[in-house]
Amino acid sequence: MSLQKNLNAPAAFTTVPNFPKPSDAWDRESFWQFAEQAKEATEALADQKMKALAHLPVDALRQFCTQYRFFTIDYISDLALLLAKLPFGGLRSLLSQILSEELGEGDANRAHPALYDRFLASIDVAPERLEQRLPANHAILSGLSDELAQRDPAFGVGLRGMGGECLCQTYLSVMFEHLRVHPFIRDHEGSIDWEFWTIHTGEEDIVHGELTRAAIDQYIREEPAVLPELARGYERSITAWNQFWENIFDACVQRPRTVS
Ligand SMILES: [Fe+2]
Repeated sequence: MSLQKNLNAPAAFTTVPNFPKPSDAWDRESFWQFAEQAKEATEALADQKMKALAHLPVDALRQFCTQYRFFTIDYISDLALLLAKLPFGGLRSLLSQILSEELGEGDANRAHPALYDRFLASIDVAPERLEQRLPANHAILSGLSDELAQRDPAFGVGLRGMGGECLCQTYLSVMFEHLRVHPFIRDHEGSIDWEFWTIHTGEEDIVHGELTRAAIDQYIREEPAVLPELARGYERSITAWNQFWENIFDACVQRPRTVS
């Protein structure tokens, strides 16, 4: 199935672009082209699906937002795992800086999961509901951590280290666009803690994305043999994040009472 067909297909997160060529035939150009196409296709699919956010009952919206919390928590340990495996160089150093920021640079209150929890508290997610994660998404995140541990670092870069090209980031940006037009969010705009979103959907995130892309490009230039595993990791991330969000939609949008 081509990317174009995916763009025209009914919205379903499980519809994903396939590799345009055998994975041993990648070069830098075709890899980045594939990443850009996948990002565009994901943006279009996510936009179709996330339109529903603006019309969700407020409690379902809270459940929806709560599920992303588990991504922010597991991202930190996956990034640390990836760092442990990467060779010395620009990409490893850059990802270590990003990890330090994720951790709040020494201030636990500024760790990104803490910022996200403050956002959740400001939209009245009750503390006792913070641990209610979807089992299917727990399985996805654990599975990715296992793969990261077992496979080559290049696979891990494709899976977890793609920065602005990462499709999880694409979903987050689209989610933000639709989230902020929800009537409850608009009515409470002034009292909502936006810091997590300012960091992850603003200028800071664009700079991160550019730096990460440049560092990965340099990584490829220095070790072109990593390309097939890098591409496989990226392909795996497409499937995983599509399924991750599909599960959230199934639980919070199609059947909002099933997560309680
Ligand atoms: Fe973050």
